[in-house]
Amino acid sequence: MVSLFHIVFCASLCVVYGIDLTFPPGFKFGAATSSYQIEGGWNASDKSENIWDVFTHTMSDKIVDNSNGDIACDSYNQWQRDIEMASELGLHFYRFSLSWSRILPSGFPDRISEDGVKYYNNLINGLLAKGIEPVITIFHWDLPQSLQDLGGWTNPMIADWFADYSKVVFSLFGDRVKTWITINEATSICDVSYGLGILAPGVRSLEYGNYICAKNILVAHAKAFRVYDREFRAKFNGKVGITNHFLWMEPETEADEELAELARELAVGLYSHAIFSKEGGWPPVLEEKLAEYSKRQGYTRSRLPAFTKEEIELVRGSADFLGFNHYTSRTVRELNDRKSALWPLSGSPSLGIRLSVRPEWKQAAVKWFFVYPEGIRRQLLWLKKRYGDIPILITENGYCTEKLEIVDKDRIDYYYNYLEQILLSIKEDGVNVVGYTAWTLMDNFEWVSGYKVKFGLYQVDFTSPSRTRTPRASAKYYARIIKNHSLDVNKYEYDEL
Ligand SMILES: *[C@@H]1O[C@H](CO)[C@@H](O)[C@H](O)[C@H]1NC(C)=O
Ligand SMILES: *[C@@H]1O[C@H](CO)[C@@H](O)[C@H](O)[C@H]1NC(C)=O
Repeated sequence: MVSLFHIVFCASLCVVYGIDLTFPPGFKFGAATSSYQIEGGWNASDKSENIWDVFTHTMSDKIVDNSNGDIACDSYNQWQRDIEMASELGLHFYRFSLSWSRILPSGFPDRISEDGVKYYNNLINGLLAKGIEPVITIFHWDLPQSLQDLGGWTNPMIADWFADYSKVVFSLFGDRVKTWITINEATSICDVSYGLGILAPGVRSLEYGNYICAKNILVAHAKAFRVYDREFRAKFNGKVGITNHFLWMEPETEADEELAELARELAVGLYSHAIFSKEGGWPPVLEEKLAEYSKRQGYTRSRLPAFTKEEIELVRGSADFLGFNHYTSRTVRELNDRKSALWPLSGSPSLGIRLSVRPEWKQAAVKWFFVYPEGIRRQLLWLKKRYGDIPILITENGYCTEKLEIVDKDRIDYYYNYLEQILLSIKEDGVNVVGYTAWTLMDNFEWVSGYKVKFGLYQVDFTSPSRTRTPRASAKYYARIIKNHSLDVNKYEYDEL
């Protein structure tokens, strides 16, 4: 029954779009995690505290279930099982992040933790032994508290601190790691951590902190990229990119297209234009509107800190690829009441932008997440039109539920529908998408949602001492897609129903 339905469905799809469901040769599949969300071992060996340790320990009321990542999936001890899972899925690569305070306990390169380095060497070598490429995110939100005490991402000196840390990890792991992502989701860091104050370190500085952070992140990323260029590229021949979170902005009506374009500049351009556009620097429309707005408010300078000429040159072109995280979309119309505005752009009210969603978009288990598969294709095409033919690695995409179930049909449907749009993007729109990463390998500490919501291909039993991992139906489905290099596989097998 299922496979008959499937064949009929595929046949109609193939007629409608005139494409086959195979992925291009060389297209790679992976799964992702991040250090604070899975490792645990928060006080293991000489690791120092990071902002998530401190945030969850001192402000546990900010986490829905008052939980923390002290143990999480215990990957600090269970890393061999993680490699086994990556292998069971048939992943081409595994994307994980490094804990800055585990490698550099002071936050600075004065002392490198032997145990921290050993942990990541074990993981990298274990993956390579199974033929799985390690893809490393250098920074995925867990800033050493020692650097937060000095202002964190609002202190311009962090650009050098980050470049120094990057240099250490390039030299430690660059012989074996060929794909590097400097920073994960500047928009979440700046808009949500330093703007809305929802994520650690919880700095609420709407329309100020976010812009300072944006500039510092761009310069920090670029300095790390230049370090790789100067000192490691010739020897190791790897690639360095940056990952951002792309929230597609759809106009509510046709008349809202211009405002939607402004919202795209705020959500995407703010963190991409300086790197990927030909001219570099801030998106001109944003620069102009924010200068105007700041002046009207009585500020003597724009809320958006200026780049120097040298900084524009430093940042421009500083990426070998674009890392693309995507989950959901928003609609845009003019803001009248100055309330509302769904997560997460802290700068949207001042630009007169009201974010919403269409009623028919199904909501996932968290309040920011609505399903709209076409959004991913539109966002990818927008990037190509705006910045040209850059290689795009999809570094996160996935679905969350509150249920612990093993047969996760909703997640399977999400993966199918989004991957179908990605195929259309590649085959119909000619977007240079080079790979896809499922978020996430296993259930984990989902930031302020704690352990309440599950994004995992593998279910994790957080009551068992070894944090037992069990594959969901979606894990088996993803493995079938990878094995066949095609979406033309059974969505559900009989034993999963
Ligand atoms: C590490 O933290 C745990 C609580 O998560 C605690 O039980 C343990 O004593 C701590 N270990 C050290 C060495 O401080
Ligand atoms: C694998 O994909 C091909 C199309 O590329 C399809 O014809 C075939 O049925 C698929 N195999 C399985 C086991 O699903």
